[in-house]
Amino acid sequence: MKELNETPDIPSDKAQLNKYAEDLSRLYILEKERRKELETLALEMSTMQERERGRIADQLHDTIGQSLALARVKIGMILQLDRAPKKDELMGIDELIQKTITSTRNLLFEINPNVLLELGLTDALEWFAEKTHEKHGLIIDISGGAEADILEQSLKILLFTGARELLTNTVKHAQTERAEVIVERSGDNISVKVQDHGIGFNPSERLSRSSNELSYGLFNLRQRLFLKGGSLDIYSSPGNGTSAVITLPAGSGTRRN
Ligand SMILES: Nc1ncnc2c1ncn2[C@@H]1O[C@H](COP(=O)(O)OP(=O)(O)OP(=O)(O)O)[C@@H](O)[C@H]1O
Ligand SMILES: [Mg+2]
Repeated sequence: MKELNETPDIPSDKAQLNKYAEDLSRLYILEKERRKELETLALEMSTMQERERGRIADQLHDTIGQSLALARVKIGMILQLDRAPKKDELMGIDELIQKTITSTRNLLFEINPNVLLELGLTDALEWFAEKTHEKHGLIIDISGGAEADILEQSLKILLFTGARELLTNTVKHAQTERAEVIVERSGDNISVKVQDHGIGFNPSERLSRSSNELSYGLFNLRQRLFLKGGSLDIYSSPGNGTSAVITLPAGSGTRRN
């Protein structure tokens, strides 16, 4: 075996030497491209984080901040009264506080869906379905989910984030109003199927890295599933909708991969 500090074998023959130089410059160019790719990715990520922070700040101000301020105004008015507050006056304040609790919970789950997953995969999926419907109008039917309750948290997170990526793809690309999520247990495996009857696509064409440098979602998901011994199968063709199935061995969270 070669020592690390050993110099590589440099060929003596001229033709071989030329080839060696060509290989080296090709490697150099490749390395430069990789670096550039990484820089672009880092930049994209920091822009995304910046945008996300702005959105959270807006939500804190527009929903939580304003509801609390309004509740304070109402309490101030009641404090100025010479009589005991009426029931409906108190109910108005109660409603505002209830609204603030819901907004806080929504924001918390958006920032960290893992919190929600402690309640169960079904709750997390239903919450996401509700949010997606509010924002984009997509109707999402969910069946199953309790099967995942016994899974380790890291697996539930993977199933949830996987379903979220697939549903986000339905919103972005499928041009349809409905999607279905089916969670099933079969033998030692647990699967989450997301299907839509939208425009569909050609997976072998769209998912090759060279054809689609700006698409990372499915590629990343497939890598993450692979690390846990799972897989992602996509069945789709133009005009025939898309069905994507995430499969994970139910015990893989305890294995060291
Ligand atoms: N449900 C779907 N319906 C139609 N086309 C789809 C669907 N899901 C994926 N695609 C196609 O597959 C491509 C790759 O999807 P992928 O999730 O990897 O990337 P993306 O959604 O374009 O970008 P990213 O996920 O990185 O934000 C998409 O650009 C789209 O052309
Ligand atoms: Mg995507």
